[in-house]
This record gives sequence, structure tokens and C-alpha cells, in this order.
Amino acid sequence: MAQFIKVASTADLAPGEAKCVEVAGKKIALFNLEGSFYAIDNTCTHRGGPLCEGEVSGEEVTCPWHGAIYNIKTGAVLGPPPPYAVRIQGSDVEVQV
Ligand code: FES
Repeated sequence: MAQFIKVASTADLAPGEAKCVEVAGKKIALFNLEGSFYAIDNTCTHRGGPLCEGEVSGEEVTCPWHGAIYNIKTGAVLGPPPPYAVRIQGSDVEVQV
């Protein structure tokens, strides 16, 4: 049965900040958006990047590993990692990293 378990105090996160918490075997990214708190799975669905370490912009967090974007309020994936730029130099195929 689902239950509420304390993972932080409200004073632990200023507005716009995030914190990684682990509870009941789950890694969770906790966010304070203008005084309201939201929790989504911390593990990026792409390759497992830590969303609690991502850049927060408005209601969105960007995965720090490859740039997938999530809505913090819904947990929805808003955008997959962007593609890498590719260019041809003579017969060489180069990828910008
Ligand atoms: S692990 Fe998050 S975008 Fe790749």
C-alpha cells in the first residue's frame, strides 16, 4: 500500500532547486518550483542520467547527460536528446561532441 514518507524539509530546497532523494528503493528527483514541491523519477529514460542534477527552466528540467527534457509537474518527456551535428570533411564523417 502506498504511503507518504518524509524525504526532506521545505527549508532544504529554495525555489528553483532540486535534490536527489532515495526512498523505498526508488531514486527520486525532488524539485521546488516557486514554493510548490514536485517529485519525479530521477532516472532519465534515455540512458539513466540523474535528473536531479539537470538544469531547471520554468517547469522543465534538462537531463545533464544528453539533453532530454522533462516536465517537472507531470514527469512527461517533452523532448528526446537532440541529435549531434554531423559534417563531412572530404571523405571524413565528423560528429560534433
Ligand atoms: S541519459 Fe538523459 S538524455 Fe541521455
